[in-house]
Amino acid sequence: MSVWRHKDLVSIQHLDADEIREVHAAARTFKDVIRREIKKVPALRGKTVVNLFVEPSTRTRISFELAAKRMSADVVAVHSETSSFRKGETLKDTVRNLEALKADFVVLRHKAAGAAQFIAERLGCSVVNAGDGAHEHPTQALLDTFTILEKRGRIEGLRVLIAGDILFSRVARSDIWALTKLGAKVVLCGPTTLLPDVFRDLGVEVSHDFDRELPRADVIYLLRVQHERQQHMMFPSIGEFVSLFGLTPERMERCKPDALIMHPGPINRGVEITSELADGPNSVILEQVTNGLAVRMAVLYLLNGGQAPETVAEGIA
Ligand code: CP
Repeated sequence: MSVWRHKDLVSIQHLDADEIREVHAAARTFKDVIRREIKKVPALRGKTVVNLFVEPSTRTRISFELAAKRMSADVVAVHSETSSFRKGETLKDTVRNLEALKADFVVLRHKAAGAAQFIAERLGCSVVNAGDGAHEHPTQALLDTFTILEKRGRIEGLRVLIAGDILFSRVARSDIWALTKLGAKVVLCGPTTLLPDVFRDLGVEVSHDFDRELPRADVIYLLRVQHERQQHMMFPSIGEFVSLFGLTPERMERCKPDALIMHPGPINRGVEITSELADGPNSVILEQVTNGLAVRMAVLYLLNGGQAPETVAEGIA
């Protein structure tokens, strides 16, 4: 029996550990599908997925589009630059028109925190949050935890260091929820301006000393400095940020030999991480991207009322 009962996926905060595990289980099955020569299953045949990305995206937009296509859905991409957003049409009116055109899923990326919840409350179709401002990016956290599980075989008890621009990061918020629900020890690290103490209330450790935290980490999760969400520069210079929080080969020498390096992308090479490490043996950054496809297939499948993973396997064999 499926434990998944949601119309929408807006946040990780509102999932429980069993629901997260069910996404992982379904994603394992869909990962087998995307390795096949014929990578397509009929699970969403006759359904329509609308991707409404009002903020730039490469990985999330393309993997949602591929996920829907791999599951035989019809897929429509709405671009803010060429849609009636340019004429001042509101988000609410836009999505109500998408529903009038019989969309079954709306996948939304938007710069405003709460935008996905806002439309989910107003639509009968399923809404998936593909990132809303600095609030949440739930499918990123599902693919991140799936990747850690694949690589380490467990999440419980692992020490996960999330470093960099925490304050403006929706990825950090979703990962904190997912990792703590699954039993990881989460440590946040960054400059005081990008990591206020209030984050301790989420059940994590807060540190400003990257060099002290690195040797103890099982997973080193680096975040991009998000200049586009900052009103002012939040630290004196990029050079100072790199000297205190950049992952370099010298710092990596003091880490556990099997520490995983993760990043949601896009990477600022030479800022939060050097190219050598981003492309090196500890990095699973591109595996995160591959897993994003399987996880997004799983999310669409479960939102469509899909059954438990063993039934998934039968249905798509
Ligand atoms: N990780 C992520 O959300 O990347 P995009 O902005 O390219 O989708």
